[in-house]
Amino acid sequence: MHDPRIIVALDFPSAEDALLLVRKLNPDLCRLKVGKELFTAAGPQLIEKLTHQGFEVFLDLKFHDIPNTVASACKAAANLGVWMINVHALGGRKMLTAARDAIPQGSATKLIAVTLLTSMDQSDITDIGLQGSPEQIVLRLAQLTNDCGLDGVVCSALEAAQLRQHFGTEFCLVTPGIRPADGHVNDQKRITTPQQAILNGASYLVIGRPITQASDPLLMCQQLNSKILTAIAGLHLEIGKH
Ligand code: C5P
Repeated sequence: MHDPRIIVALDFPSAEDALLLVRKLNPDLCRLKVGKELFTAAGPQLIEKLTHQGFEVFLDLKFHDIPNTVASACKAAANLGVWMINVHALGGRKMLTAARDAIPQGSATKLIAVTLLTSMDQSDITDIGLQGSPEQIVLRLAQLTNDCGLDGVVCSALEAAQLRQHFGTEFCLVTPGIRPADGHVNDQKRITTPQQAILNGASYLVIGRPITQASDPLLMCQQLNSKILTAIAGLHLEIGKH
C-alpha cells in the first residue's frame, strides 16, 4: 500500500521557497508538513497546489482554543482535504472530543494531538503549575488523547517505545527530531536515526533540514526511505517469529 513514512517539514517563509523544494520531491516517497509560518504566509492556495501535485499534507497548526472554535477550525482544515491535522492535548477532554466530532465520519483526515511541547522542561512545567515529570505528563496526555478517540500523538522518538507499548499498534505516533546517523544535529537536542525511530514504534517521521537542506533532497529522501523500509521489514520478521 502507498503509505510513505517520511513527512518533510516545509519550514519556509513563502510558497515560492516551499514549491522550489517540493518540485524536487516525489509523493511516492514522502508526505509534506505545512506549519504556522508557511500557512500564515501562503494560505489554503498552497495546500491546494501541493495536493494537486499528488502530495498528502499534514497541516501542523496545533489548534488550542475553546471547544467550539477548535471544532470549527478542524472542520475547515478537513475541508481543505489534508491528510492530517493536530490540536494541543492540553486543551482538555471537551476540546479534544469536539475536535474529534468535527471531523466527518469516514473522512480521510487523521486527527492527532501534541502532548507536551518538547521545548518545555521541568522548570517550565512547574512555572505553569503542572505536576509531575515531562514523561508522566506526556503519558497522561497521550492517554487522554486515546480516550477521546483521536488517531494518535506527536512525540519524541525516544518516547515512542513506551507509548507504543501502552496504546497498541493502531495508535499513530508521529516523531520529529530525526537525523541520519552521519547528519548535522542543528538545534535538535534529543535525536534518533530513522531506523531507531521505526524500531521504537514510530508510524511517521517528520524530517526537515536533513532533506530540505540536502544538496540532493530527492536522493536524501530515497536513502532515508530505504533505511526505513529495511527497519520495517526487520520489525515484521520479528513479529512473525512470535
Ligand atoms: O529540520 P528538523 O528536522 O529539525 O525539523 C523538524 C520539524 O518538526 C520542524 O517543523 C519542527 O517544528 C517540528 N517539531 C520538532 N519537535 C517537536 C515538534 C515539532 O522538531 N517536538
